[in-house]
Amino acid sequence: MTVLDDIAQLATCPPDGADAGLIDAAALVWDAGRIVWAGPAADLPERFAEAERRSAGGRLVVPGLVDCHTHLVHAGDRADEFVERLEGTSYLDIARRGGGIQLSVRATRAASDHDLAEGARARLGAMLRQGVTTVEAKTGYGLTLDDELRVLRIYRDLGAAGPARIVPTLLAAHIVPPEFADDRDAYVRLICDEMIPVVAADGLAAFVDVFVEDSAFTAEEARSIFAAAARHGLGAKLHADQLTDTSGAALAAEVGAASADHLECVSAEGIHKLAEAGVVAVSLPIATLVLGQEPIPARRLLDAGVRVAVATDLNPGSAPSNSLGLALWLACTRQRMTPAEALRGATVEAARALRLDDGTGSLVPGSPADLAVVDAPSLATWLAGWRAEPAVRTVIGGRTVWEWSP
Ligand code: NIG
Ligand code: FE
Repeated sequence: MTVLDDIAQLATCPPDGADAGLIDAAALVWDAGRIVWAGPAADLPERFAEAERRSAGGRLVVPGLVDCHTHLVHAGDRADEFVERLEGTSYLDIARRGGGIQLSVRATRAASDHDLAEGARARLGAMLRQGVTTVEAKTGYGLTLDDELRVLRIYRDLGAAGPARIVPTLLAAHIVPPEFADDRDAYVRLICDEMIPVVAADGLAAFVDVFVEDSAFTAEEARSIFAAAARHGLGAKLHADQLTDTSGAALAAEVGAASADHLECVSAEGIHKLAEAGVVAVSLPIATLVLGQEPIPARRLLDAGVRVAVATDLNPGSAPSNSLGLALWLACTRQRMTPAEALRGATVEAARALRLDDGTGSLVPGSPADLAVVDAPSLATWLAGWRAEPAVRTVIGGRTVWEWSP
């Protein structure tokens, strides 16, 4: 049993409600990897008097951050395209001529298992040092049965090795790979009839994601892919209404998706449908910024009763950053979310977007003891600015997995 005290401010992010559950001058107690008590230090029950004590050093303590949308495994470098975009070529024009996602697919297929795994491990390590404890990780740069499976096996192995918790997603429907350009239906059949059954049978993914966009998959194609996913017990996620309004939000509601992600171009009707169906909206403000788009209408989503998560979208093109802290700061500054809404978005609402119902993303009795000690006296102070590595300690399952040392 461990008591963490000298917490200047504790954010408990309770599953119900809409606030960060802030407690000043707090203490937190865990045992066997689970939270057993959280509250004002002055109220700490006598029965914990003998427990091992650790100090948060007068800092902010938050639930371990949950990055609920990443493209963690990828290879190759798209820096030339970055410069081209600055010079005026659009993301879609680059995609149409075989660059963009296709370039990353070629590089990922050519990379060895070892190099792919090492790249992902390095990115995960950097995230852990920022207080991130759970990471959703998509495929989507393999796009053959074998390449998608090997990426999922890398995720399985990374998750088994720990300490970060990994939630794997099959995104074989990222784009139609060039070898199927003349027979899109055959690729959709490959996903539905071969990839999804094998992935489900081997327990390699929790979700199936589809990029619904003019340059990727139609709503009709997505419907058959989600039907196959449902038959095999896999949840649905969508890259929806990112570059254009393709009624992706309505489709997410129709198929009962766990989340609809991006949504920069979501319509008023789409917002209404998300609210009705209880689909989490995942905002990805780094991608919005990189692609020079108007921010997701977070206030309208929140006012309509939609839960809004915040994630990095870490990928080699539209969001080449692993900084969930940066995404949080942009959620405040560009999406007009309060620090409390933003933090919930990268903890308890992100866990909801992953359908984790074991208390992940909160620090309440029963939650996993996953937390970050942030070098700020309060949540508002942290998110009023941006720092590359805000955490000084990351704890997963009650075990310190990283600690800053001067
Ligand atoms: O989430 N929208 C599609 N997929 C990624 C982009 C991936 C890439 O550019 O490689 C995204 O933004
Ligand atoms: Fe994405």
